Amino acid sequence: MSGDAVLIRPATAADLDAVRALLLEAWHQVYDPILGPDKVAEVTSRWHARGLLAAQIDQPRASFLVAEAGGILVAHGFAAVEAPDTLVVSRLYVRPGRQRRGIGRRVFAALCARHPDCARLRLFVAAENPIGLAFWRREGFAEVREAIEEGARVLHMERRAAAAPERQAAMRSQ
Ligand SMILES: CC(C)(COP(=O)(O)OP(=O)(O)OC[C@H]1O[C@@H](n2cnc3c(N)ncnc32)[C@H](O)[C@@H]1OP(=O)(O)O)[C@@H](O)C(=O)NCCC(=O)NCCS
Repeated sequence: MSGDAVLIRPATAADLDAVRALLLEAWHQVYDPILGPDKVAEVTSRWHARGLLAAQIDQPRASFLVAEAGGILVAHGFAAVEAPDTLVVSRLYVRPGRQRRGIGRRVFAALCARHPDCARLRLFVAAENPIGLAFWRREGFAEVREAIEEGARVLHMERRAAAAPERQAAMRSQ
């Protein structure tokens, strides 16, 4: 239901099947037009292999979060600290039917809040993912370089940890 409260919490091993299903659905949504469905299925089976995700749940200095609403897993985010003080956001995915309702923003804020000592934030996004790009630009990220990942052009983006526009606005209004 659209009005269900959203609970954001660390994942457990019991969430892995639902996380993998969400990632598969979101990847087909975003990357089929870029890579084609067969390549997407192949890449996601490697990048989101069960054992790899299970190890990330217990990874030190990392956060593997899920968001649920009405008993359904609606989003997933993963971020890990890279020495010395950079938080790398590797995944942020909202279930396609639940997007543009503020869930992505909340999961991203929850990832950041769990690593307050990080001074910089970093991620990469497919150059041909206009929604992802709009989201990260809205969050204050700027492109620092281009690269190729799995045959797709990606943009590496960064920002200082406290530079999000809404955080600045919140600070100004205090
Ligand atoms: C990108 C994603 C994580 C954003 O999460 P979300 O819950 O859908 O987005 P939010 O509701 O929190 O949106 C926050 C802001 O991002 C921007 N944004 C989000 N979706 C957008 C869209 N479809 N078109 C344009 N801007 C968009 C807007 O600025 C929005 O603020 P506004 O609604 O006040 O205008 C989510 O849409 C998603 O999972 N997309 C597919 C996977 C993906 O691209 N992940 C990122 C890969 S790096």
